[in-house]
Amino acid sequence: MRICFVCLGNICRSPAAEAITRHLAREQGIDVQVESAGTGPWHVGDPPHAGTRAEAARRGIPVEHAGQQYGAGDFARFDLIVAMDSANVADLHDLAPDAASRDKVVRLGEFAPDVGARGVQDVPDPYGQSPESFRQMFDQVEPACAGLVRALAAGVLAADLSGRRP
Ligand code: 4NP
Repeated sequence: MRICFVCLGNICRSPAAEAITRHLAREQGIDVQVESAGTGPWHVGDPPHAGTRAEAARRGIPVEHAGQQYGAGDFARFDLIVAMDSANVADLHDLAPDAASRDKVVRLGEFAPDVGARGVQDVPDPYGQSPESFRQMFDQVEPACAGLVRALAAGVLAADLSGRRP
């Protein structure tokens, strides 16, 4: 399974989701390849934002990432593309070369443990906000990534994805 997390700048939210998911999957011995990318071009090659790095360090989560921009050619490289918010989904749908590519796009909030009660929530962008905003972002992203890893471990996702394909 190859997963790409996508946000706007690829320095705050999606590198956090990438790092958390890789960390959880490694801990649980689950075979998954994770990357992250941004729909915008501004931070290609950059390390994640200091707020994301500080919060990851506080939680003992290793961060291994350099910024990259998501392109139309990337749909073929991934089984699942996990967007942070509805604007990212719209941008990815605009980029998608075909319906099968569009079908690979989900929102991270679909995997949140409280999705049944609250519906699918966007992950708000902490860029330019306080360190507390980065803490809140991790508080939201971490349980959703854990939900995603649980779905991977249960094989639910692979079955669902193969069911979606023509
Ligand atoms: P992210 O936050 O999408 O969570 O990485 C942003 C980071 C940088 C910019 C926008 C959003 N920017 O415009 O540079």
